Amino acid sequence: MNSIVFYLNGRRREIQNPDPEVTLLEYVRVQERLTGSKLGCGEGGCGACTVMVSGYNMRRDRIEHRSVNGCLFPLPMADNLSITTIEGIGNRKGGLHPVQKRMVEGHGSQCGFCTPGIVMSMYTLLRQKCAEGEELTALDVEENFDGNLCRCTGYRPILDAFKTFAGNEPCCGGRKNGKCCRESPESTPTNDAGQQNGQYGEDTGLQNGFQTAEEPDTDSEHVFPRELIKRAPPCLRIDSEGGQWFRPVTTMELKSIMKEFPTAKIICGNTEIGVERKYKNLQCPVLISLQGVAELTEIRSTPAGFEIGAAATLTDLRREIGVVERRLEGSGCETLHAIAGQLKWFAGKQIRNVATVGGNIVTASPISDLNPVWSSSRAQFLVFSHRTGEERLQKAEEFFVGYRKIRMAPGELLLKVIVPWTKPYEFVSVFKASRRRDDDIAIVTTAIRISLARSKALEPGWNISDVSFAFGGVAEATTSPTKAERSLTGSSFDEATMERALQIIGDELQVPKGAPGGMAAYRSSVVVGFVFKAFLQTAEKLRSVLQKENVEPLAWEVDERLKSIISDEKPQITKGVQVFDKDGRPATVSAGKPVGHVAAELHVSGEAVYVDDMPVPSDCLFAALVLSTKPHARIKALGVRDALEMNGVVDIVTAADIPGRNAIGVNLRDELCFAVDEVTCTGQVIALTLANSQRIANKAAKAVVVEYECLPSIITIEDAIDNHSYLPGVKPRLIEHGDVDIAFKTAEHVARGDIRIGGQEHFYLECNGTVAIPSENDEMTLYISTQGASHSQEAVAEVLGVPQHKVVARVKRLGGAFGGKESRSINSTVAVAVAAKKHNRPVRFFFDRDSDMLSTGTRHPFYGEYSVAFDGNGRLKALDVKIYNNAGNSRDLSHAVIERAVLHVDNAYNIPNVRVEGRCCYTHTPSNTAFRGFGGPQGMLVGEQAIEHVANYLRIPAEAVRFTNLYREGDVTPYGMKLTNCTIRPCWNDLTRKVDVDRRRIDIEAYNKANRYNKRGLSVAPVKFGISFVFKTLNQAGALVHVYLDGSVLVTHGGIEMGQGLHTKMIQVAATAFGLPIEKVFISETATDKVPNATPSAASASADMYGMAVKNACDQIEERLKPVREALGKDPTWEQLVERAYAQRINLSAQGFYRVPDLDSLDLSKAEKGRPFYYFTYGAAASEVEIDCLTGDHKVLYSEIVMDVGRSLNPAIDIGQIEGAFVQGMGWCTMEELVRGGTTAHRWLPTGFLSTQGPGTYKIPGFRDIPRDFRVSLLKDAPNLEETIHQSKAVGEPPLFLAASVFFAIRDACKSSRQEFFEDEELANAWFELDSPATTERIRMACADEISSRFADPQSFRAEAFI
Ligand SMILES: Cc1cc2nc3c(=O)[nH]c(=O)nc-3n(C[C@H](O)[C@H](O)[C@H](O)COP(=O)(O)OP(=O)(O)OC[C@H]3O[C@@H](n4cnc5c(N)ncnc54)[C@H](O)[C@@H]3O)c2cc1C
Ligand code: FES
Ligand code: FES
Repeated sequence: MNSIVFYLNGRRREIQNPDPEVTLLEYVRVQERLTGSKLGCGEGGCGACTVMVSGYNMRRDRIEHRSVNGCLFPLPMADNLSITTIEGIGNRKGGLHPVQKRMVEGHGSQCGFCTPGIVMSMYTLLRQKCAEGEELTALDVEENFDGNLCRCTGYRPILDAFKTFAGNEPCCGGRKNGKCCRESPESTPTNDAGQQNGQYGEDTGLQNGFQTAEEPDTDSEHVFPRELIKRAPPCLRIDSEGGQWFRPVTTMELKSIMKEFPTAKIICGNTEIGVERKYKNLQCPVLISLQGVAELTEIRSTPAGFEIGAAATLTDLRREIGVVERRLEGSGCETLHAIAGQLKWFAGKQIRNVATVGGNIVTASPISDLNPVWSSSRAQFLVFSHRTGEERLQKAEEFFVGYRKIRMAPGELLLKVIVPWTKPYEFVSVFKASRRRDDDIAIVTTAIRISLARSKALEPGWNISDVSFAFGGVAEATTSPTKAERSLTGSSFDEATMERALQIIGDELQVPKGAPGGMAAYRSSVVVGFVFKAFLQTAEKLRSVLQKENVEPLAWEVDERLKSIISDEKPQITKGVQVFDKDGRPATVSAGKPVGHVAAELHVSGEAVYVDDMPVPSDCLFAALVLSTKPHARIKALGVRDALEMNGVVDIVTAADIPGRNAIGVNLRDELCFAVDEVTCTGQVIALTLANSQRIANKAAKAVVVEYECLPSIITIEDAIDNHSYLPGVKPRLIEHGDVDIAFKTAEHVARGDIRIGGQEHFYLECNGTVAIPSENDEMTLYISTQGASHSQEAVAEVLGVPQHKVVARVKRLGGAFGGKESRSINSTVAVAVAAKKHNRPVRFFFDRDSDMLSTGTRHPFYGEYSVAFDGNGRLKALDVKIYNNAGNSRDLSHAVIERAVLHVDNAYNIPNVRVEGRCCYTHTPSNTAFRGFGGPQGMLVGEQAIEHVANYLRIPAEAVRFTNLYREGDVTPYGMKLTNCTIRPCWNDLTRKVDVDRRRIDIEAYNKANRYNKRGLSVAPVKFGISFVFKTLNQAGALVHVYLDGSVLVTHGGIEMGQGLHTKMIQVAATAFGLPIEKVFISETATDKVPNATPSAASASADMYGMAVKNACDQIEERLKPVREALGKDPTWEQLVERAYAQRINLSAQGFYRVPDLDSLDLSKAEKGRPFYYFTYGAAASEVEIDCLTGDHKVLYSEIVMDVGRSLNPAIDIGQIEGAFVQGMGWCTMEELVRGGTTAHRWLPTGFLSTQGPGTYKIPGFRDIPRDFRVSLLKDAPNLEETIHQSKAVGEPPLFLAASVFFAIRDACKSSRQEFFEDEELANAWFELDSPATTERIRMACADEISSRFADPQSFRAEAFI
């Protein structure tokens, strides 16, 4: 059989010889034009492509539903399945599904790019639960999204929305008129603490008022196709352009196909092969899928052990383990229990649903989570050799022999794994250390089996009769400390032996400095920590067994203070509270109302169109970029012949094809559209390939050969300082206030230190993309995913050598941006425009995730040195700071970023003498750029580090120092701006009242006393964030408002909708101005031919500026309507008014304009003073964290935020911005670490090489990283006293820095560990360095204890950092 049969959203499809290179995602998006499922990464790491696959499980005799990643699902694998995409569950025309409705009502989408994937994950869960006849619980919901990422929302609203489906949760408990909100639309959901979710003020109303009482009606869902019920899958033999695909259905067929195609590659879940094909150029012309061989997917219990077919999925394995454990009541199941434990943290759900046991074993990754378990548990692998036709059993512990090398020849087949049952008194422990808890590959992973026997000696006790340790992440393959194992076998099982084990294993497995993967001291420490945990866990397990047997207890009693590191973590359900004031404006006024995102229904139904979703014109060409792989090199030759000869390749476009200037850059034209004879960073654009399909264009780009002559390179800030490498033409930026030198001379106390602050990848879910369409007369229309349409228009016009009026840039919406699409999108856009112009044909380009991350720059890494002078009460006397940013290889916005950083070092504190100097370092890395906060957070973090230092010095709580120095009304900043309407103290006071800091400190102290290796910490952090572009010119905005004859209103403005709800707010503004309901107002897109010369949407300023511009346009029209209204008499309808005005030939269209008043343009290179900001947004947050000192893992137990957003324009959107920014900030200062090979860091990597190029290696916070108790309040009664739009304040960026409360709470917890370790009081309280981000490595090593101090000096250790 060479055709596959499947159902797509209920419709039958039959495809002959489907191409195995085509993924299900590509098929549905390109062939079926179902663009609701998105491409976010192409490597199974983001979940944007999630679809549901349903199949008939013959063995279980039932239909099963699973969520999978469409991006890793080869089309031939769809055979015999029913596939449901977002389009198949509901839409705006036919009605949304309850899952979609709850998402809308819960404000669960912002940019909407992740939304269809998240909705599909929830939908699948509901279908699955229904098919299994199980009730959905809140915990099911919490655990369901480990394969989905969202960069905008902060996850809380999504979880809240979906937990309302959980049967065991009384929704959120809200009742009105005695009814639950799921029954009554007027009720208010509240959380289990009885506090209201989304209450207006302290009394009424609702933000997350779920109107959808309706439960999913499973009867009306797509019925599983009758044809596929009990349909035995046929043997498939597919022969297509992209290769051959075989799917045998019996072992006999399999063996015979293997014989016929001895070099064929076995394929199962494709989670490894798929990624390698896409990103590592793996070629697989012949593939044999094991999916159809029932015998290989079987999992069964036999007397010899638990047998797992190699093609069994990890989801099936976990379920079957549960079944067996229940049946045997755990007896003999220690290893199985450990496997299930490891699977909990293995990848995301969508991956586990397809990835197989065999695929993991044969991949033989040194950081595989399961291979250590097989090794330590004496599992055996049954291997078939088609050469000899024989099967053989192979011991797992002898199987992994080198880096991805196994005792299996190519072409051999792994049939099954046999796991022996554990014997009485045999215990297995498993652990994993990773950057993020969910869906992360391990840094160190381990399985430890200890068999115990009663001592035969005179003394009663227990001996180790057998022991086996297996570790991943410490050597090139799964490895065991065999010497230690031999030495420990036969020893008594007690603390002394444990101490010996820690010593000898630490010696035997010590990771050498400079080993690939870095983090040598950390990894060695974690190994020993895991052995420690395993011994304690074993002792506890034995104790509990003996207790059950009612025999003499174990003499070794585990110290109570150690128990928390070995106890199973209790499942946690997150909760949240959002409080905002009931708006006093009449119900008919939409400004101030928590109106949902106007595109929310489009997001949840997958109908929202992003650039990548646009239908391409029939003559469209597809582009891919040839990017530099060297940080600094001369281009000796460009070999394009092979690429040009490829079938389907049209052209290779280079600098020679540029009709205008080969010069780009937002302020200074210091970059090239295409490199000519030198590259100055990795990821720089050298050429562009054009082809008839995207796949061919990508292949051609890989086939272009660039010959380089490497030149010396500067990568880090430290390199740049050593080499005096600063951005040409950018003078140091300065602030000078008071007399710093005298203040230091006369100061009671002085502290000095420094901090390194890593960069941050934007990780917008939608990568950058452009479609360029040339037309007559040199015109060019660009559809771009950019925050700066006018910047793109300007750059394209200049590169093409045409006036700007010939170029139109259009933007409908972005799938997130966060600053990353402000200026860096230009580089690819201009290259695409050149190609389109040359061929006079439309050209489409979309970045893959890896090249987007490689090429488009990040938040600036910073280095800051500070000296701080203070008195004995913690009152600050002077601050002297030098900060440096890593600008990369061009100016871009780096000078403006350093200016904002310099202007924010003071944060919320009145310091009488201040000197700040900021410099931009030129390095051979991709130009760094804007990112939410724009240098402000980095500047503030340096200042706050100084505050922490003061508190540490004086041995008083940091919040006391902070409070003492907070600004007051009328104070003047070091750059001369007087603070009016300063609400930092009200925010602080409101927050600390809510938090009850003293009580929490007491509780934390008690917890820390009771626990040796789990510590808690607390921090309270304020923020004062300046609103306005520091470059004064940019503080202007335009809008265009048309009123049509039916009374509908079309608004256009220069701002870009990227998820922040800008269009929603602008619609509220226009509707309020005209006294209309918001349904009357519409915004279609942003375009440079409607509103020219628009400032990019950035600096949190868009709602302020465009709000005033829109209002200005509406006011003009209102003014013109006034006499008509008067003439019409009492209360004419809007439609009557418009009709009469038209009849009277009154202009119903107006162009609005706004410039922010009262701003000074400061030349900070001359330390000028004045008013760079129109006003400040203030806020404060407190966070409590818990860390595991042995792994560096942390969890945020509680975060409370109070934010002054003035008189909120839309509290639902503002709270969404606060939560989203906070979680993004948590990522910045905890887990998001860019790893780049440099001359001063990560020397195990090639210089300049970025190893974090996708979600597999770069971890943004996931669903389960958010604060477990997450509370947000908007400061009450705090209208902005400046003349802003409806007295609101900007909100997009300011809350990001509040996540510093998490960073400093972690520091606080680490400090507690150090205080316990160092006996010497001076050492115990000495200042220690903690750079940002506080990764697991930094946290663990900062904890300093007897284990880590074996591998690094706790006083001087500092983890390597690329800054
Ligand atoms: C997003 C993501 C997250 C991940 N997270 C983790 C994680 O947390 N922990 C972890 O350990 N791994 C992780 N992985 C790695 C991967 O998921 C596993 O290795 C998975 O089990 C591979 O199974 P598969 O069926 O998809 O293999 P495939 O990709 O189909 O095959 C992998 C390799 O195994 C060979 N092969 C498969 N089956 C057999 C067989 N029976 N006989 C001979 N050769 C065979 C194939 O030829 C191929 O070389 C992750 C991968 C992704 C994409
Ligand atoms: S696009 Fe498939 S997981 Fe990211
Ligand atoms: S709404 Fe989730 S990524 Fe934007």
